[in-house]
Amino acid sequence: MFTLIENQIEEYCEEHTTPENGLLYKLNRETHLKVMNPRMLSGHLQGAFLTFVSKMLKPGHILEIGTYTGYSTLCLAEGLPENGKIDTLEIDVELEDMIREYFSQSPLNEKINLIIGDALEIVPMLDTVYDLVFIDAEKRHYTDYYKMILPKIRRGGIMLVDNVLWNEKVVGEINEKDFDTKEIMEFNDMVQKDNSVRNLLLPFRDGIMMIEKL
Ligand SMILES: C[S@@+](CC[C@H](N)C(=O)[O-])C[C@H]1O[C@@H](n2cnc3c(N)ncnc32)[C@H](O)[C@@H]1O
Repeated sequence: MFTLIENQIEEYCEEHTTPENGLLYKLNRETHLKVMNPRMLSGHLQGAFLTFVSKMLKPGHILEIGTYTGYSTLCLAEGLPENGKIDTLEIDVELEDMIREYFSQSPLNEKINLIIGDALEIVPMLDTVYDLVFIDAEKRHYTDYYKMILPKIRRGGIMLVDNVLWNEKVVGEINEKDFDTKEIMEFNDMVQKDNSVRNLLLPFRDGIMMIEKL
């Protein structure tokens, strides 16, 4: 739960960040009006952060796990060079029509490859080497995603993993049955011990683990 001052800071930051473009604004609004769990959407600040990272890296290939309504996909796609591609994976078939409708309205549509299905089944079949990966799906599989995807990232490539502070639960008392929190803590510890990467746990929004493959 955010405190009043945290909400004010977030509003202040949003007021001092380049506004969302028209399509992102519309998608953000429609997601909040029509889709379950709209808090899952990255939103203005995190979206702007993803765009910044992508524009700085200019990745040829991006992989995203957890498209939801496509907000973060559109933000990440901003940094793709002319022949760049983003593969974005979403397990929920119910979201497909809305995602495709929004992607089709974007000038970046040609660069986006939406794959509907379970990332745990699909990723092993992808034979692309990725420059940038954004993981934002089922928390209970974070360590599985990491082990499966790290070999597919080039040296010097970057993985961003969302929600690693899990509403600050990673520093509180843990309920034995809170498997999501346990998994995220296990994931954070695993990355911290992995000598094949350099990492930064950025306390931005719900926590983003930034990982560079060495
Ligand atoms: C937090 S939302 C993603 C939000 C989105 N990245 C954004 O910023 O707008 C997580 C999404 O991951 C999807 N998901 C969960 N498990 C998945 C899996 N195994 N493979 C693909 N997608 C999955 C869920 O259906 C949900 O839409």
